[in-house]
Amino acid sequence: MKLNREEQEMLGGKHGDVKQKMMELLIAIGECYDAEHMVPIGSAHLVSGTPINAGRGGTKFIKELAEGGAKFVVPTTTNPASLELWRWKEMGYDEELYKRQEEVSDHLSRMGAILCNTCTPYLIGHTPRMREHVAWGESSAVLFLNAVLGARTNREGGPSAIASAITGRTPAYGYHLDENRYGQLKIINRVNLKGDSDYSTLGYFVGKIAVDRVPIITGIPSSISQDRLKCLGTPFAVTGSVSNYHIVGVTPEARTEEEATGNRKISSSDIFEFGPKEFKETEESLSAIGPEDANLVVLGCPHASITQLKEYAKVLSGRKVKNNLEMWIQTMHSTKTYAEDIGLADIIESTGTKLVCNICAGAMPRDFFKKSGYTGVLTDSPKYIYYITTIQDTPCCYGGRLDKFVDVVTNK
Ligand code: F3S
Repeated sequence: MKLNREEQEMLGGKHGDVKQKMMELLIAIGECYDAEHMVPIGSAHLVSGTPINAGRGGTKFIKELAEGGAKFVVPTTTNPASLELWRWKEMGYDEELYKRQEEVSDHLSRMGAILCNTCTPYLIGHTPRMREHVAWGESSAVLFLNAVLGARTNREGGPSAIASAITGRTPAYGYHLDENRYGQLKIINRVNLKGDSDYSTLGYFVGKIAVDRVPIITGIPSSISQDRLKCLGTPFAVTGSVSNYHIVGVTPEARTEEEATGNRKISSSDIFEFGPKEFKETEESLSAIGPEDANLVVLGCPHASITQLKEYAKVLSGRKVKNNLEMWIQTMHSTKTYAEDIGLADIIESTGTKLVCNICAGAMPRDFFKKSGYTGVLTDSPKYIYYITTIQDTPCCYGGRLDKFVDVVTNK
């Protein structure tokens, strides 16, 4: 791999042992993918900032880096935590987990991390620009970055994103290169999609068909909101490894279909339709239980924006969560504070719904749901179903849009 002078110096140890090791790690990864050189990055986002995702080994790795004086040289944010830091006792998390989370967070903070603990850091000011190279983990954020912002990142693992944050470099392969960003198949949407979760249903279907190829989606109104784009891309990660998509006339690298495909023709065998039949089948395929079998409702995957909180408040206003149920809306603490300031939080919490901050079932201990007595979960997110089913071993029902199942979970 060709390295510039500064990169050679890092590799040679001139900038210290830690940078040397991190550069060795990035070169090893780059060589696996035939990367010819490194690219400087503008920022990083870490998926390893929790005791559960990092594990004991990862925590030791992070501790050694912090104690060795490592510093992040680019803005670096963190993914959801393993527990709710403001109401962990009330929600039944144990103190040992709280201390372990604090330990990982302290080490990352010493290295310079911004501990925002969210999968949507791009909603709170960590927003890369078009064509900016970055090193981000978190599949839903990576899709938003590549497709909606036109920034460039591969789906980084814990150690590689940390190594990039310390060196300011990532190997140039995958989505950093033009040739890997073009659309390779086409999905034609023929459904009148009415809410964020309808876009999640389409996204789950698209991810299943695309697997590792970049899809172009047509039939989407050019007025589609940022929230809906967020919901569309998120489920791709459940069914495949693709981390980019295009919508002609909407996403920045697809002003025309020719631009989206790099002037390549898509063969008829790579064109698929998403009609009412596919919509219904996709929704049904996601549920293992009925809505009445759930005793926990979780909304806000990825973490809800302020505009989504307003939508949820509109549907929930004047209702009460049923006695046999608990209902969470996941968001960022900063967004919750904003919602408190403008009266939205009151509307939501007066229904009995909890606004829970900076968490994800994928970062919680495996037994947390069972220990808490949650025997079935109803959600509007296919990605959450994946995590609750696989990590929490708890069956799920896919409700689709909240307005479709609000009568099942609340009373007027
Ligand atoms: Fe975020 Fe967890 Fe969903 S990381 S995208 S809330 S599965």
